[in-house]
Amino acid sequence: MGQVDSLPVIVAVTGASGAPYARRLFRFLAERAVPVHGVVSSAGRLVYRLETGRNLEEDLPAGIPLYAEDEFTAPIASGSFRTRGMVIVPCTMGTLSAVANGLANNLIHRAADVCLKERRRLIVVPRETPLSAVHLKNMLALTEAGGIVLPPAPGFYHHPRVLDDLIDFVVARILDHLGIPHDLMAPWQGL
Ligand SMILES: Cc1cc2nc3c(=O)[nH]c(=O)nc-3n(C[C@H](O)[C@H](O)[C@H](O)COP(=O)(O)O)c2cc1C
Repeated sequence: MGQVDSLPVIVAVTGASGAPYARRLFRFLAERAVPVHGVVSSAGRLVYRLETGRNLEEDLPAGIPLYAEDEFTAPIASGSFRTRGMVIVPCTMGTLSAVANGLANNLIHRAADVCLKERRRLIVVPRETPLSAVHLKNMLALTEAGGIVLPPAPGFYHHPRVLDDLIDFVVARILDHLGIPHDLMAPWQGL
């Protein structure tokens, strides 16, 4: 891996539905020896446990630091700590709003704010349905600020057979936007 490739990726977990995407991403990055810094909100911890039956801490591959949302002294709170970028997966409408509007009330908002100001990649995987005008405006604001809004919306043209195929579809798109090669899904080659 080159210099940028060896920089850590920040993976934040918030309290939206979609914990299996985060679990798959953490595992994939650990398997490929990509350094990761994890951060989780209080609601993220709760929903992760509800959806997977396990605590995020015990599910996390060894060696990945996991910060709580009030740990403002973590390295990822500062722009001088260089990273490859950040993924918020899943991302609540609350966190999306905070990041889109420049609030830095917790470590996740702050780390995302740092990514925007340092022109680093910020990928948010928002989950809500239906979407209100407020949600849509926040997504536009975040996109205009340089973020990537990547809804967990798997396609069906690759004929998924099991749930993991749908999860991999979304994680593959996240990895594409992080610039990390993967073999989770063959790219569409046309008919
Ligand atoms: C089981 C469960 C599922 C939830 N799913 C969503 C969701 O899909 N999207 C969302 O925006 N909020 C969802 N919420 C609400 C958020 O967890 C809540 O707004 C929380 O304050 C978000 O805080 P955070 O952004 O700091 O994680 C859910 C809550 C629970 C308990």
